[in-house]
Amino acid sequence: MTIKIAPSILSADYARLADAVAAAEAGGADWIHVDVMDGHFVPNLTVGPPVIAALKKVTSLPLDVHLMVERPHTLIQAVAAAGADYITIHQEATVHLHRNVQWIRELGARPGISLNPATPLATLDEILPYVDLVLLMTVNPGFGGQEYIPTSTAKIAALRQLLDARSLWGVELEVDGGIAPETAGEVAAAGATVLVAGAAIFNEHAPVAENIAHLRRHARG
Ligand code: DX5
Ligand code: ZN
Repeated sequence: MTIKIAPSILSADYARLADAVAAAEAGGADWIHVDVMDGHFVPNLTVGPPVIAALKKVTSLPLDVHLMVERPHTLIQAVAAAGADYITIHQEATVHLHRNVQWIRELGARPGISLNPATPLATLDEILPYVDLVLLMTVNPGFGGQEYIPTSTAKIAALRQLLDARSLWGVELEVDGGIAPETAGEVAAAGATVLVAGAAIFNEHAPVAENIAHLRRHARG
């Protein structure tokens, strides 16, 4: 399976998001990852539907929206209307996961589920047939530039086995947090299909296109 690279604009310059997205698109990014944080589910605040709508106008890449918010049902409609292609909600943030996943699909977006590092894969058992994407957090959500949690690799491999055993070939296995050239090969080999990266792509060391190419080379092993 070819690996998709989804640059996270969390590490970009928020005063120049259009430039960041243009650089990512020109540099070969597959998706744009947008982190929505509410200051409750995670101890940080970012952007919401107005910024997603503005980004939609300046890129043709799919917008991969990661909702790190409590009570995600309060935002789903506005995020879908803003043009999100994928809407991922956290398993830990709602007791009505199935209802919210169905609602995302009814609104014309692709539903995803995210698990925090300590949330077991077993919690996916009933919801897996209804989603298009599973996002495994490989750091604790809330901030860019953190270290990859090494035990995540076994979790990625176990989810890959689970998806394959249930013939869910179309479900994307996305990893998010600490993904860099040093970790990309390992997560790709374990079965990830989408690599989110913020600090490894938007930084002062090298241009965005170079960083994307570097990550892709490592992901190929
Ligand atoms: C963190 C976010 C990530 C973040 C990853 O809670 O969900 O998308 O941008 O940042 P890096 O790639 O720098 O670890
Ligand atoms: Zn994210």
